[in-house]
Amino acid sequence: MRRRFHALRPLLAPLLLPLLLTPRALPRAHCPEPCSCPPDGALRCPGPWAGLTLLSLTYLPIKLIPSQAFRGLNEVVKIEISQSDSLEKIEANAFDNLLNLSEILIQNTKNLVYIEPGAFRNLPRLKYLSICNTGIQELPDVTKIFSSEFNFILEICDNLHITTIPGNAFQGMNNESITLKLYGNGFEEIQSHAFNGTTLISLELKENTHLEKMHNGAFWGATGPSILDISSTKLQALPSYGLESIHTLIATSSYSLKKLPSREKFTNLLDATLTYPSHCCAFRNLPTKEQNFSFSIFENFSKQCESTARRPNNETLSNTNCPPVFFFLTLPALVWMVCRSPSINSFATCGFFLINRKHFWLESLVASRGSFGDKRR
Ligand SMILES: *[C@@H]1O[C@H](CO)[C@@H](O)[C@H](O)[C@H]1NC(C)=O
Ligand SMILES: *[C@@H]1O[C@H](CO)[C@@H](O)[C@H](O)[C@H]1NC(C)=O
Ligand SMILES: *[C@@H]1O[C@H](CO)[C@@H](O)[C@H](O)[C@H]1NC(C)=O
Ligand SMILES: *[C@@H]1O[C@H](CO)[C@@H](O)[C@H](O)[C@H]1NC(C)=O
Ligand SMILES: *[C@@H]1O[C@H](CO)[C@@H](O)[C@H](O)[C@H]1NC(C)=O
Ligand SMILES: *[C@@H]1O[C@H](CO)[C@@H](O)[C@H](O)[C@H]1NC(C)=O
Repeated sequence: MRRRFHALRPLLAPLLLPLLLTPRALPRAHCPEPCSCPPDGALRCPGPWAGLTLLSLTYLPIKLIPSQAFRGLNEVVKIEISQSDSLEKIEANAFDNLLNLSEILIQNTKNLVYIEPGAFRNLPRLKYLSICNTGIQELPDVTKIFSSEFNFILEICDNLHITTIPGNAFQGMNNESITLKLYGNGFEEIQSHAFNGTTLISLELKENTHLEKMHNGAFWGATGPSILDISSTKLQALPSYGLESIHTLIATSSYSLKKLPSREKFTNLLDATLTYPSHCCAFRNLPTKEQNFSFSIFENFSKQCESTARRPNNETLSNTNCPPVFFFLTLPALVWMVCRSPSINSFATCGFFLINRKHFWLESLVASRGSFGDKRR
């Protein structure tokens, strides 16, 4: 292919030259049918258009997605808008009444600063809405989507200017169950009733590095979540209400989380991944038998967090052989802990505890260092 082009070059050169000299030669900017994409103007994609299921709008010079921009495109299943530096605003009712629409992606539009309330309205089949790397300053209004799909996924990521998740933010989005992937944003605060009216399967809040406050009533009115990921946030505490449904808690690199609510609040916890050097230290004093092991260890762990917080280095671990990162997994009859270091390729099994719930006996303890690291990479 390349060689052939080479041979043709003398012939093509005069044809290509004007193209190369055109200042706005964006090879991937292509306004698809039936749309019109006027530079610095408003996008229009009027339907109906038989057979049009995927609408991909990338590198377009438009400034506005107006109300009813896609009116009549009743077969469209996926709309993707990305890589547009000129897009500034999405009006109310822009995505309105598109009954087959199942996916909307709005990504890498850094000058998109405003999505009017009601921009997404009456989209009963919508299953996936992703709004990432934009300039919006408020959480987009998703409360009029009225989707009835099971496990609706809302992804809001890398929007550095959104600071708050207000109350009732996801009310009306979906009446079945949802996964919220809200990561890498500018969130500082999650308000009371934020998840009111939702059935939450999974709530990912990881990498919201400014997230400091989660109102104690954030989960009021919600069912769930089953999975909660608060890794790499500045959260100092978890709300005390709503933890009973959590079966998986992930809190790696959550250096401000010094204290966990008492173990009793986590009635269904099966699996916790908590990164803290001090977490390993909780296991330094092995329990005597006859203790309610899984509960007392949790309390000690919280205390240890407090006393050794902000020392994420080897120092606190020197006595225990436990490297900085560890995984702690509890099952009703089994407590299993593995320590591993992220920096070196080593993998150390610090302890393996098998507990018989009736008698709380420590049945086995293994302390070894291996190098399973290579396998993982
Ligand atoms: C959904 O799309 C199909 C064709 O893909 C079409 O026959 C049907 O009418 C559309 N549904 C609605 C509600 O417009
Ligand atoms: C959600 O709404 C749909 C359509 O209105 C309905 O069929 C379904 O039963 C509702 N689901 C729940 C859990 O209410
Ligand atoms: C929570 O949601 C319900 C409806 O699901 C609503 O009636 C109630 O006012 C909401 N509570 C708050 C405090 O916003
Ligand atoms: C362990 O203790 C907690 C509260 O201290 C209690 O709710 C739980 O039932 C106990 N577990 C067992 C197996 O006795
Ligand atoms: C918790 O800490 C106390 C003292 O700090 C100690 O006596 C007890 O054995 C510890 N329990 C566990 C399960 O580590
Ligand atoms: C931690 O210990 C490992 C070896 O055990 C060493 O390679 C590493 O440099 C230490 N890190 C710090 C921050 O001291």
